[in-house]
Amino acid sequence: MKHSRKLIFVCNGSDCKKEGAKKLYKELKELTDVPPLKGTCKFIKTKCMDMCKTAPNLIVGDHFCKSTTAEKVMAQVKKS
Ligand code: FES
Repeated sequence: MKHSRKLIFVCNGSDCKKEGAKKLYKELKELTDVPPLKGTCKFIKTKCMDMCKTAPNLIVGDHFCKSTTAEKVMAQVKKS
């Protein structure tokens, strides 16, 4: 059974925030709030993922995205 919503776990730890996680979260919310992605993604803020050296980090489904940007995440969202 295919899930209709993609889960995106965004690290909200201090190192990721220092490296732009808040801005990244905001950009991703905006990019996924328009068709055809509107309503397809659920964002979950997490505590530190213990991978601070590669901040900002997030997980799309089962794919770990390190030192990431909104463009890279969107490419992964569309692939998954
Ligand atoms: S603060 Fe994000 S991995 Fe540690």
